[in-house]
Amino acid sequence: MAGATQIKAPDGWSSRSAFVLAAIGAAVGLGNVWRFPTIAGQNGGGAFVLFYFGCVLLIGLPLVLSEIMIGRAGRKDAVGSVQAIAKKSGVSPRWASFAWIQITAAFLILSFYSVVAGWVIYYAGVMGADLVGAIADGTPFVGALQGESVEAVQGRMTDLFANVPLLLGMHLIFMGLTYAIVAQGVGDGIEKAALYLMPAFFVLLVGITLYGATVGNLDATFAFLFTPDFSRLTPVAMNEALGQALFSMSLGSAALMTYGAYVDKGTKLAPTAGMIAIADTAVALLAGLMIFPIVFAVGLDPAAGPTLVFQSLPVAFQQMPGGSLIGFLFFILIFFAALTSSISLLEGPTSWAVNELGWSRPVGAAIIAGAAFLVGIACLLSFNYWSEVRLFSFWPIFEDAIIFDVVDGFTGKVMLPLAAFLVAIFVGWRADRRLVQHETGLDGPLFALWRFLVAWLCPIAVGLILLFGLFPSLLV
Ligand code: TRP
Repeated sequence: MAGATQIKAPDGWSSRSAFVLAAIGAAVGLGNVWRFPTIAGQNGGGAFVLFYFGCVLLIGLPLVLSEIMIGRAGRKDAVGSVQAIAKKSGVSPRWASFAWIQITAAFLILSFYSVVAGWVIYYAGVMGADLVGAIADGTPFVGALQGESVEAVQGRMTDLFANVPLLLGMHLIFMGLTYAIVAQGVGDGIEKAALYLMPAFFVLLVGITLYGATVGNLDATFAFLFTPDFSRLTPVAMNEALGQALFSMSLGSAALMTYGAYVDKGTKLAPTAGMIAIADTAVALLAGLMIFPIVFAVGLDPAAGPTLVFQSLPVAFQQMPGGSLIGFLFFILIFFAALTSSISLLEGPTSWAVNELGWSRPVGAAIIAGAAFLVGIACLLSFNYWSEVRLFSFWPIFEDAIIFDVVDGFTGKVMLPLAAFLVAIFVGWRADRRLVQHETGLDGPLFALWRFLVAWLCPIAVGLILLFGLFPSLLV
């Protein structure tokens, strides 16, 4: 043989680090930089954060390995991979139903994700224009939006939310970008995007965190994030923490199974799973350490909710030195994080359409992105024309939820935990044990520990949290 020719899959990751980067790109997104600080703030910080870490370590990490493992063992789209393993294990192919839940969840998440990413694009534009103006005036290091009253700065969000054409335009731009990348395929589209965007993201994250630590209020931030008040850890808060851990690691939404299918057989999966979980959690924590010092520096409310990033922070940037520049970079950072996640949200359903329906990639991606765009419009309109619509008013925890919150809440609090529960049962109890062990590459006590977590702790903990989170009245 004249030199060992490396046979590469026609379309897959070019290397292990490419996969790790893309998977971290999928995990790190709006969930880390927008949702985590928001809900940690609303749930009182400390105790919530601690419980969140527990969810990551004991539930999230074992499941990350499970889902990547399913993808690589099956080597197809999410549904096809589960069916392949079910077949080899001699169990019903109907287990693939949890892959269906995952693909549907990815689709629904993509629809509202693109709406939020659209706001990010708008703010990046506003801050970018402001920065250009500041530079033109010869004062590049002033605070953002000089000369605007605080009311006017805050009013920008209200104005944006009332401006339907603008919202639609931004939503369309973001979905279009997502589509353009996924249509290129795994190697030329998704991997390339992660290769450029993720390093830029990390540089910005570290830079802005250092900035916040220098000029912001670090003491208040530490007190807030790390002083646990367990009285605030209600079942609803726990359900939210679990949902957030799953959401943040892109579990239960087809991404890891789909990305796992493109990983070559030589790659060790366990350390890879560890890297994804650690990177994702570190970024969520850093995002908190980036945002709260700035929030506390100007005395804003950490529990402001979804508007924290879009309404409170611009006010902070106005009052901080260099705020014009930092504000712009901050929204660029969120934009990069969102884009590497949205491509993965689109890739799960697209890979299914390509494999199971035989569609071409560009057509499949276009139809799915188009449909998600339409569902996104309903979410978008729930901030203005449809603000009175309550789809799930029959369900106490969604009683007061607008359409956006229903789609967000139903995926995060119901679909992801349900999918996670079924993944755990499937991998822990139904899939062929030897196949599973071989594919994870774990042995000895480590395998036993992982299997115990997947087979026992995950289903019980997720099941209980799901039950009491969705029906808090069961507890009293
Ligand atoms: N993890 C992403 C975030 O934190 C959101 C997300 C959930 C996701 N499920 C996904 C991203 C599936 C890609 C694929 O923002």
